[in-house]
Amino acid sequence: MKKRRIGILTGGGDCPGLNAVIRAATKTAVSDYGMEVVGYIDGFKGLVENHFMRLDPKAVSGISHRGGTILGTTNRDNPFRYLVGGTLENPIFDDVSDKAIENLNRLGIEGLIIIGGDGSLNIADQFYKKGVPMVGVPKTIDNDLSATEVTFGFNTAVNTATDALDKLHTTAESHHRAMVLEVMGRYAGWIALHAGIAGSADVILIPEIPYDINSIKSKIADRFIHGKKFSIIVVAEGAKPKDGEMVIQKLVPSSHDPVRLGGIGNKVAQDIEEVVGVETRVTVLGHLQRGGSPIPYDRILATRYGVAAIDNFAKGNFGTMVSLRDNNIESVPLTDAITELKLVPVDGDVIRSARAVGISFGD
Ligand code: F6P
Repeated sequence: MKKRRIGILTGGGDCPGLNAVIRAATKTAVSDYGMEVVGYIDGFKGLVENHFMRLDPKAVSGISHRGGTILGTTNRDNPFRYLVGGTLENPIFDDVSDKAIENLNRLGIEGLIIIGGDGSLNIADQFYKKGVPMVGVPKTIDNDLSATEVTFGFNTAVNTATDALDKLHTTAESHHRAMVLEVMGRYAGWIALHAGIAGSADVILIPEIPYDINSIKSKIADRFIHGKKFSIIVVAEGAKPKDGEMVIQKLVPSSHDPVRLGGIGNKVAQDIEEVVGVETRVTVLGHLQRGGSPIPYDRILATRYGVAAIDNFAKGNFGTMVSLRDNNIESVPLTDAITELKLVPVDGDVIRSARAVGISFGD
């Protein structure tokens, strides 16, 4: 009998744990369901260009602890709006989704496991609506996907940011300085919030709570009165002042998300020096948050997601995404995951706990 054949791809920005999902999904597909697995190279670009590799238990052996993705990824290539020419400033796009579907059909691939964030899962949903069986796996360090409590990769990023805060603490204290750490997270403040609490920050600035520099001044002044001559400020890249906007580093029209955030850390540091009058330094943590080995929590979550994605596929539970709820792996409609971003609830217990231990949100 002909074996069932499925495809896997990783889309959007990479994050720690992608390889653990690829490994778990491949092993489950081959061992439990006797399927054949094809991995597309560089995400949806590989699907359009028909660039793939065979995945089997040997090909995925020993990769669970490795960061990045053995398949490669891009955050530019959307088959429904594919770059076919033009220039960086004036790109020309075309819908090449039918070509991608022809590629699948030619190889006899039934459908795909898409490991991605909101951009990639949106594309998965569009293919599903065109009749391609799809199962999504929620990936992003930003933790901003609805319909799941946690995305894999998030806790590793929090770990990296917390480690940076621990290091900044010692030098801030020696020099009696304010230290600003800018972290990623796009339009959500999850990384800043969690790392800020774990790393005992004094101020956490997140997009969900616009800040006032005078409130930060009061907090730093209050610390001085109590003999603390240094302060640690964590700033999410999407944070903004009450009377201002997010700081955009660059607009990239050819990308899934044309807005490249970055630079708010410098603004906050400059304002602290000018308004508060404390010597300040800034660290932008950047892609360190996306690189390196996943922590054990993410390896386990990624493994559970990979296995569940194949179980769902085998059952014909298409147009869905695997998700974590009450520490159980469940399955939710793809549309639930992509209709809105999951932002930090400003009245939630995590913010409440942070405030209770004296952390200021600059509001
Ligand atoms: O979505 C993950 C993320 O790391 C965001 O936190 C950040 O804004 C963005 O991707 C950076 O993407 P790029 O890989 O284009 O620099």
